[in-house]
Amino acid sequence: MSGNWISAHRELNPDTSHPVLLYNHENHQIYWLGIPEHTAFRSNTYLLKSGNQALLFDPGHRAYFGRVLERVKQIIDPNQILGLVLCHQDPDVAASIVDWLQLNPSLPIFTTPRAHILLPYYGNEDYNWHNISADPSVTFSNGHKVRFIEAPFLHFAGAFASYDEKSSFLFSGDVWAAIQLKWRLVVENFEAHLEDLDIFHKDYMASNIACRGLVEKLRPLQINAILPQHGSIIDSPDMASALTYLETLQCGTDIIYPHLNT
Ligand SMILES: [Fe+2]
Ligand SMILES: [Fe+2]
Repeated sequence: MSGNWISAHRELNPDTSHPVLLYNHENHQIYWLGIPEHTAFRSNTYLLKSGNQALLFDPGHRAYFGRVLERVKQIIDPNQILGLVLCHQDPDVAASIVDWLQLNPSLPIFTTPRAHILLPYYGNEDYNWHNISADPSVTFSNGHKVRFIEAPFLHFAGAFASYDEKSSFLFSGDVWAAIQLKWRLVVENFEAHLEDLDIFHKDYMASNIACRGLVEKLRPLQINAILPQHGSIIDSPDMASALTYLETLQCGTDIIYPHLNT
């Protein structure tokens, strides 16, 4: 698949001392920023660079701000960042908004209205907000576009995913996130990965209807990789299995109130 470097990491974890290239084609690159976090909950931060601009997805906890900034600088001048994409307001996704806005107070924040209500509680009451519900895409100066796809109740009411049209990679936020004691950057065996997906999804995701609603939106898209905010990246050979997993998942209220299922 043109430009997709994910399979190079399928059998062996990469060196985590620098950003790891996941996609590279025609001056359009996607990196996993390679922050070593030694918990089963480990959070992923990704950077999409296209031409001389970039988007930073889910920059994370304040504790990792210094390291994320260092990794970003290895790729691009932080002043060239078009904005932070915050798939919801949880601290593992968004707490470092405070540090990023200190670095650049005019940095745009791409998020939904529901997350926008809560983000100021980290300390910045005013910021340059791009409402992804009203304007569900952003276009780089070279014409490449990232689309935002709302994923209500997966797990937050105002959660969303981001789809890069050039690479066909999906930044899925907490959807397809996994809790892993044995971490791999890329899923090697999807069947074996189901258990790690279940640990997260059965408790966090609202219901099968919420899951099916997102899959219905995603089915028309060609998706070449799923880049979740926790755990392993899912590469193209496992895409059909990944969509079926979410579509058939029993979770949240399906499990808590089985007697109310119709
Ligand atoms: Fe979350
Ligand atoms: Fe998360």
